[in-house]
Amino acid sequence: MSHDHKQYERLTFDSFKNRANDGNLSPYEKIGFPDSYRKDKELDIFFDISKKLELEQEKTTIIDIGCGCSDLVKHLIANSKKLNQTLILNDSEEMLSHIEKSDEAIKIAGRFPDNYKCLIQYENQVDAILVYSVLQHIILEANHFTFIDKCLDLLMPEGRLLIGDIPNMTKRNRFFLSSKGQKTHEEYHRGKEVPPLPLTHDFTEKIDDALLFGILHRYRALGHETYLIPQANNLPMATRREDILIVKN
Ligand SMILES: C[S@@+](CC[C@H](N)C(=O)[O-])C[C@H]1O[C@@H](n2cnc3c(N)ncnc32)[C@H](O)[C@@H]1O
Repeated sequence: MSHDHKQYERLTFDSFKNRANDGNLSPYEKIGFPDSYRKDKELDIFFDISKKLELEQEKTTIIDIGCGCSDLVKHLIANSKKLNQTLILNDSEEMLSHIEKSDEAIKIAGRFPDNYKCLIQYENQVDAILVYSVLQHIILEANHFTFIDKCLDLLMPEGRLLIGDIPNMTKRNRFFLSSKGQKTHEEYHRGKEVPPLPLTHDFTEKIDDALLFGILHRYRALGHETYLIPQANNLPMATRREDILIVKN
């Protein structure tokens, strides 16, 4: 892999706006991924999400918060057209400008939940909310519990919130310390001197088991059902990322 990891570090809402405006970046790079992580993989990602959020139902209302501008959002739009769903897409104006105008999708610009007044009409009415590959950016500049509280305010009873594609550094460390992880590391560096395992020791601004279990615990205590679920094995980062599903009660 030839990409420079540094350019993908500490991406805030405003740095994503700059990426969206950068004409030299591919859609995957605009949303913070090297092409090799997402190109040709977003249909598999969509299928995994669709199962967890039950997106194959007709006439439901779905919100994608931090929708980005790559193929994943296109798959959501196509699905919602097919099934007569109301699809609301939220991201910065700059990111949303790359998504084709579609009569079926409603675009709401602005940083969630600062833009909550634009969404208040959907309070208690939404069947499913997707927050995919976003939590790691929220924790850099806001309180993630406030973010999730406001998502739950939008959901109807039994509505589902998927906080997906969460990079969990403790899971990543466990993977590299496993025999499969060590083999993967050696194969990645085959033919060269193999460096030490890329373990994370500094958890500053990183997500770990404690942060995820805190989310599961808080929303159970508030009366909802919460689940920590793996990603399908064919997803590009399944060894180090996982998803949280919250079902509103
Ligand atoms: C890593 S990208 C993921 C995009 C898309 N969900 C995907 O997985 O293909 C993160 C996106 O979240 C958006 N974002 C970050 N913080 C946000 C916030 N507070 N409200 C709305 N969008 C946000 C960024 O602009 C960016 O497009």
